Amino acid sequence: MTTYRIAPSILSADFARLGEEVRDVVAAGADIIHFDVMDNHYVPNLTIGPLVCEAIRPHVQVPIDVHLMVKPVDRLIPDFAKAGANIISFHPEASEHVDRTLQLIRDHGCKAGLVFNPTTPLHHLEHVMDKLDLILVMSVNPGFGGQSFIPEALKKIAAVRRLIDASGREIMLEVDGGIKPDNIAAAADAGADTFVAGSAIFGKPDYKAVIDAMRVQLSRV
Ligand code: DX5
Ligand code: ZN
Repeated sequence: MTTYRIAPSILSADFARLGEEVRDVVAAGADIIHFDVMDNHYVPNLTIGPLVCEAIRPHVQVPIDVHLMVKPVDRLIPDFAKAGANIISFHPEASEHVDRTLQLIRDHGCKAGLVFNPTTPLHHLEHVMDKLDLILVMSVNPGFGGQSFIPEALKKIAAVRRLIDASGREIMLEVDGGIKPDNIAAAADAGADTFVAGSAIFGKPDYKAVIDAMRVQLSRV
């Protein structure tokens, strides 16, 4: 049976009360904290860095999943590892040497992931499957929370699922962007096992009600 993980994105949290927000969302059933890093260069938005990761680290026991939307990538990896990140993923377009960046993440004791934008082809996976712990399929264009799910992403999730299964390796398949209780089952059905949701959870008054509604949908897949 597939283990499904819900990974709330703190991008939609109340940043003035971030410690409380991450504690509340874990108490509501979150499995992972998804941490969106944007640099106003690779994506047209600016968010948070290692200092904030270090600040929330003592508040939760669950893994912190750092999604780097930055270019260049390598400079920040040691800082995030030191700040308590457990998983670090990046976009292949943002690194000159994808294999080296993956190795750098692992050398710093973190799990390594590659992220695919809606139009990024999957050929980047061809020579690095053995260095991956996570593959993230974007179901929106990166840069902002609250966008609508792009249905074409389902085909890409299914294609990645086939590649993971053929590799015989344990690689998490995460989907990020516009995930809500009413489309989470379609993403799971296509092969995703880890679901990022920002505005669907932090935008709502009752985090547990949303996470429970997502799990009900997943139990029917
Ligand atoms: C978008 C980010 C997402 C985003 C998800 O660039 O990578 O993690 O916060 O937010 P929602 O769930 O609101 O689409
Ligand atoms: Zn993200």
